[in-house]
Amino acid sequence: EKGGFRSFMEKEIHDQPKAVADTLLGRMDVSGRLVLDELRIDESVLRAVDKIVVVACGTAAYAGHVAKYAIEHWCRIPVEVELAHEFRYRDPVVNERTLVVAVSQSGETMDTLMAVRHASEQGATTLAIVNTHGSTIPRESDAVLYTHAGPEIAVASTKAFLSQITAAYLLGLYLAQLRGNKFPDEIAATLADLREMPGKIQQVLDRAERVREVARWMADSPAVLFLGRHVGFPVALEGALKLKELAYIHAEGFAAGELKHGPIALIEPGQPVFVIVPSPRGRDSLHSKVVSNIQEIRARGARTLVVAEDGDEAVVPYADEVFRVPQTSTLLAPLLTVVPLQIFASELANAKGLDVDQPRNLAKSVTVE
Ligand code: F6R
Repeated sequence: EKGGFRSFMEKEIHDQPKAVADTLLGRMDVSGRLVLDELRIDESVLRAVDKIVVVACGTAAYAGHVAKYAIEHWCRIPVEVELAHEFRYRDPVVNERTLVVAVSQSGETMDTLMAVRHASEQGATTLAIVNTHGSTIPRESDAVLYTHAGPEIAVASTKAFLSQITAAYLLGLYLAQLRGNKFPDEIAATLADLREMPGKIQQVLDRAERVREVARWMADSPAVLFLGRHVGFPVALEGALKLKELAYIHAEGFAAGELKHGPIALIEPGQPVFVIVPSPRGRDSLHSKVVSNIQEIRARGARTLVVAEDGDEAVVPYADEVFRVPQTSTLLAPLLTVVPLQIFASELANAKGLDVDQPRNLAKSVTVE
């Protein structure tokens, strides 16, 4: 059942190419146009949407956080991402023109369900991005876009995360297509890039031996920090969450630009810091800004563990370790850069002799508020 792997989590990490491929499957026609008739929301309603609010918890919320960058870029619709339990208990501005997107692997998370109910009461259109068929959240939502990750057994979410990002991206591209925000060529090109992701995720898995070695050496680390910028920021948060929940190590993710506003005070000699580096071929000066951050923390003695694209030589002088991922666009990179972080957490927990599939105090599906 574990397919020869030591844990379900390891198996599920290796299922990720298929999880992404299956989530893309059957959602494009032969001409490369997205077909999401399964949504069954009136096109006029989707055209009128003037705000998207993603509600979710934990890893699913980080998937929403990644999707915000992409959807705002493609659709020019403001996207807010909110932890479902926070959304529910304030007085959020939600109305008939709001699309509330609930992201959940289990489809049973009570906090997320309550947020959906609250949004429906305010007249919003609700759409569920959910993995488990027949679960409660899609039943109570106006529409559902299933992620096709297959059953996720390990408590810590991995393949569901990659398929949530994939599904949310499909939603963003579909809205852009429907609303005529982007040239059809650009949408088709992004879809073509998405179709290459399963093969690229496989390459990251094939090269993961070094990540495992480093994780085993680091089994005694008291604390690990994660830095990222743009879509790398939620990836950093996710890397930290995986390490806390699996290895019980104090871990924190920061926006790299925030370093000088406080967190840099934490850097002392030997402090391990993962840095998620954006593509040097990407927009603006994102890449050089993050390289400067690596330089700054290295100068203060940090042990820098860098996740960077193939061919990015600028990071080499400041990196104690470089974990490589294949080249892709800035927005698609999270589907690759999170994988070494998942493997790191899983391997480190394993090295500490912990139960990777059943971390203490946690349940797979949180059905109480
Ligand atoms: C982290 C993790 C949790 C879940 C969260 C939401 O590895 O598994 O943070 O992501 O409890 O669960 P779902 O997606 O089922 O709503």
